[in-house]
Amino acid sequence: MKKTKVGIVGCGMISDTYFNASKKFNMIEVVACSDIIPSRSKAKEEAHGVPAMTNDELFAQKDIEIVLNLTPPQVHSKIAIDTLNAGKHAYSEKPFGVDIDDAAKVIALGKAKGLRVGCAPDTFLGGGQQTCRKMIDDGWIGKPLSGTAMVMGRGPEKWPQAPFFYRYGAGPMLDLGPYYVTALVNMLGPAKSVTAFTTKGFEERTIGDKVAEEYVAEGLKPFGKYKVDVTTHLAGVIEFVSGAVITMVASFDVYRHGHSPIEIYGTEGSLKVPDPNTFGGPVKVWRRGYADWVEAPLSHIYTDNSRSIGAADMAIALKNNRKHRVNGELANHVLEVMLSFDKSSKEGKRIELKTTCEIVNAES
Ligand SMILES: NC(=O)c1ccc[n+]([C@@H]2O[C@H](COP(=O)([O-])OP(=O)(O)OC[C@H]3O[C@@H](n4cnc5c(N)ncnc54)[C@H](O)[C@@H]3O)[C@@H](O)[C@H]2O)c1
Repeated sequence: MKKTKVGIVGCGMISDTYFNASKKFNMIEVVACSDIIPSRSKAKEEAHGVPAMTNDELFAQKDIEIVLNLTPPQVHSKIAIDTLNAGKHAYSEKPFGVDIDDAAKVIALGKAKGLRVGCAPDTFLGGGQQTCRKMIDDGWIGKPLSGTAMVMGRGPEKWPQAPFFYRYGAGPMLDLGPYYVTALVNMLGPAKSVTAFTTKGFEERTIGDKVAEEYVAEGLKPFGKYKVDVTTHLAGVIEFVSGAVITMVASFDVYRHGHSPIEIYGTEGSLKVPDPNTFGGPVKVWRRGYADWVEAPLSHIYTDNSRSIGAADMAIALKNNRKHRVNGELANHVLEVMLSFDKSSKEGKRIELKTTCEIVNAES
């Protein structure tokens, strides 16, 4: 099969995964890269042998069909618009954007130009999540009625770019929520409404406090204190069109807890869904008559880190003239669900969602 040529915009931390993608998914080939900080794209040229250039030079490359947008969330919509205006298909890292109106413009432009729009996470194509989807579709737990999605921790102070996570466009929901909400929508279909209460436990964060001492000991530089600009504890209920009701908490304010990442409760049994920020298992099921949870064998492959599988699927979908699965409508719907947590809390009411999406199966 002729390889689809792709360009990478944004040569930061996650980019190596995508540079290496063409070794795993040989239907795509990374042929150019750019970064607003030229030394970063130059470093990737040296590491991966992929020519570094400016964004404009990359957009002007005639042979590039898909642009992988690996910039920070605040510029995702802008780079996607630039990509589409250059006549190329746009595939972004998560989240789809930080503003619902800007994200809608990306969807509209893609449609107007007849170009594809896609966005991570693609972990729902991993063996663990696909097995859960199949088990639900095959009726292992009957009709899903309710469940929980819990992504909680004390925050990413360990990371050198920790302050980023407390600024507009990040926080636990926009940073980690995409994995959880996408997994839920993949299993249960589109959502209908969100009712939530959101807050923050700490007005400022300090690396070097008791939690972070060990990290400083590891040689990481202390940042001192920095202000928290986003809500860091978001608790709410997502109502799905199917009737299922999921309780979700995304938090950077919790030291320890004992919840599974996602649990789904149906009319015939319950499902423990693995961490949707990974590709593997374990998947555990309980059905009426079982003495205890039973670990289910995984029905699908791709259980190791396969990030960029969504971009590879887009490349194949283009060749086969079918829909791609990690698509913009899904990501845009997930974004609206996530942003509706703060909106519901601020307005003190339930938010009826305006977007929806179709879940694309491999066969379609
Ligand atoms: N780091 C991870 O482990 C990880 C994992 C999954 C997803 N992501 C997502 O991937 C995206 C990038 O994350 P990262 O950790 O690599 O961030 P990063 O800050 O390390 O890298 C982003 C890069 O984009 C560049 N950039 C910014 N604006 C640009 C512009 N207008 N044009 C060209 N380049 C520009 C920056 O200079 C930087 O080099 C984010 O959306 C993040 O949520 C990151």
